[in-house]
Amino acid sequence: MKALLFHGPGHIDWGDVPDPTAEDAADAIVRVDAVTICGTDLHIVKGDVPEVEPGRVLGHEAVGTVVEAGSDVRSVRPGDRVLISCISACGRCRFCREGRYGQCRGGGGWVLGHTIDGTQAEYVRVPFADLSVHPLPSSVDSFDAVLLADIFPTAYEVGTLNGAVRPGDTVAVVGAGPIGLAAIVTARLYSPERVIAVDLAEPRLAAARFLGAEATARADERPEQLVADLTGGLGADVVIEAVGVPESFEMCMRMVRPGGRVANIGVHGKPAVLHLEDLWIKDITITTGLVDTSSTPMLLRLLAAGRLPTAELITHRFELGQMEEAYDVFGRAADTGALKVALGGPQHDAVIAPAGR
Ligand SMILES: NC(=O)c1ccc[n+]([C@@H]2O[C@H](COP(=O)([O-])OP(=O)(O)OC[C@H]3O[C@@H](n4cnc5c(N)ncnc54)[C@H](O)[C@@H]3O)[C@@H](O)[C@H]2O)c1
Ligand SMILES: [Zn+2]
Ligand SMILES: [Zn+2]
Repeated sequence: MKALLFHGPGHIDWGDVPDPTAEDAADAIVRVDAVTICGTDLHIVKGDVPEVEPGRVLGHEAVGTVVEAGSDVRSVRPGDRVLISCISACGRCRFCREGRYGQCRGGGGWVLGHTIDGTQAEYVRVPFADLSVHPLPSSVDSFDAVLLADIFPTAYEVGTLNGAVRPGDTVAVVGAGPIGLAAIVTARLYSPERVIAVDLAEPRLAAARFLGAEATARADERPEQLVADLTGGLGADVVIEAVGVPESFEMCMRMVRPGGRVANIGVHGKPAVLHLEDLWIKDITITTGLVDTSSTPMLLRLLAAGRLPTAELITHRFELGQMEEAYDVFGRAADTGALKVALGGPQHDAVIAPAGR
């Protein structure tokens, strides 16, 4: 089959690899129908995630059709259309039993496109299929559902829920990429008084306004002052960090009100300064987190009810074989205006197992 292969920092290609085969009775083999590229994939290609080995198939977000299910798999059968979660879950370890699948110690967690081959391929092996894929109702489009593999559960769980957004809150979202935009959408489910979006790029602020942010500010134009002006000098009740650099995290700490909450989503590669000399007296709560995807079934119900603006987040569509072009467009988002890029063919009618199966 064809797959997007990582060959070490700066080198990827759409090449030939053997078809995946089931290695365990809990595995499913899924034909990929819709797949996206994540900012985290760009981090991997840059070399920021050293545990990803050369030869690895990247990708952790997809919708596909089950072509083979191991003898232990109970919840899906060949022919079922499923959402592949970015997080796999053994279901047995201490963390899985608390619904904290991201921290799975039994072979799950973030493994796809990280420590095992991922979804940017014609077929993918999904371990622990019962807890790692979600059957899709026929009313839900694959290219809408694929945004629930990672960005919506991440923004909701690590941003909105960890930040404990409540009715009437002022919520500041720093970073208006796909994750920050999904944080704006999911924070608004809780009727905040206002959402203030901060980014360096004007097109991203325009997207934030379109998705419901009442106020926006450029990161290089003292957004702390806007937050202070709108809150009588107090600061935001909740600040959500969706960038992952020291400057943005430190900005969040200057925006939060006494007693407020800072929810960090960004993946950080460098240390950030925590000004405890200012903050010790302010009763601040700071949270960090890897997504668990325990909210995915609820988000799928919202999607089916037409309550999530997924289509607005996909700016570019490609055929699967245009993977390298899609990486280029996504990697130059400032020039191309890309939010999420999605790849895949039109809806298939029949499930055809790859040769030899
Ligand atoms: N915790 C998790 O489980 C999890 C899961 C997925 C992604 N992430 C991380 O979330 C972060 C956001 O993801 P994304 O896909 O939206 O990334 P992205 O790169 O598309 O978006 C980041 C945005 O931040 C803006 N930005 C850059 N520097 C800024 C600054 N100093 N101040 C304000 N804005 C600034 C950029 O213009 C861009 O719009 C990334 O770090 C990603 O790796 C975390
Ligand atoms: Zn991701
Ligand atoms: Zn587990």
